[in-house]
Amino acid sequence: MNPVKRAYRGLEAWFNLSFGPEWNPLYNLGTLAFFFFWVVLVSGLYLFIFFDTSIAGAYASVEYMTHEQWYLGGVMRSLHRYASDAAVITILLHMLREFALDRYRGFRWFSWFTGVPTLWFVITLGITGYWLVWDELGLYVALLSSRLMDALPIVSGSMTRDFLEGQLTDRFFTLMGFLHLLGQPVLLVFAIWIHVKRLSHVRISAPRGLAIGSLAALLVLSFALPAESHAPANLARVAPVLKLDWFYLNVYPLLDHWTAGKTWTLTLGVTFLLMLMPWLPPKKTGPAAEVHLEACNGCGQCADDCPFDAISVRPRTDGARWSHEVVVQPNLCASCGICVGSCPSSNPFRQRGKPLVTGIDMPNYSADDMRTRTEQALKRARQGAPRIIAFGCDNAYDASRLEPRGCAAVNVFCAGMLPATLVEYALKKGADGVFITGCRTGDCFFRYGNVWLDKRFEGNRKPRLRAGADRKRIRIYRGAETDGARIDAAFDDFRVYLGTLGTDHADDGTRAVEATHEGA
Ligand code: HEM
Ligand code: SF4
Ligand code: SF4
Repeated sequence: MNPVKRAYRGLEAWFNLSFGPEWNPLYNLGTLAFFFFWVVLVSGLYLFIFFDTSIAGAYASVEYMTHEQWYLGGVMRSLHRYASDAAVITILLHMLREFALDRYRGFRWFSWFTGVPTLWFVITLGITGYWLVWDELGLYVALLSSRLMDALPIVSGSMTRDFLEGQLTDRFFTLMGFLHLLGQPVLLVFAIWIHVKRLSHVRISAPRGLAIGSLAALLVLSFALPAESHAPANLARVAPVLKLDWFYLNVYPLLDHWTAGKTWTLTLGVTFLLMLMPWLPPKKTGPAAEVHLEACNGCGQCADDCPFDAISVRPRTDGARWSHEVVVQPNLCASCGICVGSCPSSNPFRQRGKPLVTGIDMPNYSADDMRTRTEQALKRARQGAPRIIAFGCDNAYDASRLEPRGCAAVNVFCAGMLPATLVEYALKKGADGVFITGCRTGDCFFRYGNVWLDKRFEGNRKPRLRAGADRKRIRIYRGAETDGARIDAAFDDFRVYLGTLGTDHADDGTRAVEATHEGA
């Protein structure tokens, strides 16, 4: 396994121990970024009430908030600053995570490609924020930003001169205020909307405990290290020392050594390189899911479960008695197979002795293939006592590694691809137990596979595990590729437990038939 992924998995496991999967910040980086934006928005609205958007009054109004009404204004200002920093840290970690776990290529190219400019929208929003304080740092930002703008062919090339000659009008400063308070936030919201457009069930609310903990941490920081201004902006004086916020103002120090043109080249070069990463090298996505209308009743469950919004429901076109049907948009399909697990027709008890045709299926690994492989596994497991079928997922721990411990394995693309009825089928066909493993709780390579699996098996989402399945004989145990030792131990534990239950449970006579065959 690649060392970046292994290291990341180690870090994630450590956070799981400290926070538990639900509150693990590494599973909540997107929602945390949203939470920090909320803090920035609320504190920003407060600051806006007292902020004077004129060059003459801006600095004094910020000083007034910071010192004269310290407990509210000062804390709000500090919260605004630190939540903004926390948002950038969170976004960078979010980016690192997608990269480390190889979740940026193939069908995910769109989220990555649109994420990179989104990061710049956040950074430029912070830059105008520092400008507005109109202290020595604000002046530094204004002057260097003007140098950068002057280097662009679309700008007339006189912003820096206008500044130095004191021709920067209140109107321009007000424009900055408008950009920071309205223009850029609206652009950012639009960019984030595009960024998550190809995903469904996007989580934007951080778990309550994590949100409260993060707010408490920001408050502690705000009290311990209140945000303060530099001296007021003064064109006649070069500021001796500036405390830079490296999360936002990281490009500016380059201008001490480089021309604006060279700085633009580096910045745009790195940005384009990052945007091109999904193709360096590209990753192939499997074939898209296919709808078989003859087995589809238009219930829409697959469309609701698809994590990548690749399925839509439309009026029936084949004259069947159902009102709706589904259609897959192949360019959006991640080939995860989750829809196969969603479809009530993926029921292996149907069409016995004939190929199983389900409503929506994967061309390269069909519901019928899953049934056949499960039947073959049942035959392989015949010698074992107890007879266990282990279902694993291609993106987590390879279930075939459990075979030497006493089971026959069947791997699927994603745990969410596994129809609950197939587990029932395996038990009725003579398995003493079914062990299911897939990505760690809180983390699924295909976003929702293990979540839907849990809900279906708990009876909270269709198609539910039916009452006829002996739940005692089913164990779901989660883990990543790196959790082999834990998964092995959980499997051994399950095997011992099954031994205590005995083997007299299969109710369709299959066990008896096979036992006879075995003896012959
Ligand atoms: C304003 C900044 C950002 C916010 C608020 C944000 C938020 C989110 C959210 C909420 C998701 C969906 C997660 C889920 O529900 O599974 C997501 C997905 C994703 N983001 Fe971001 N993101 C931001 C920036 C970035 C950046 C800078 C990158 C990388 C360049 C990036 C890469 C991705 C990728 C690859 C996914 C797809 C994950 C998947 O398919 O499972 N994001 N982002
Ligand atoms: S295979 Fe996955 S991404 Fe494709 S349609 Fe089915 S659930 Fe959606
Ligand atoms: S889950 Fe199956 S039956 Fe329901 S709409 Fe999708 S393909 Fe059709």
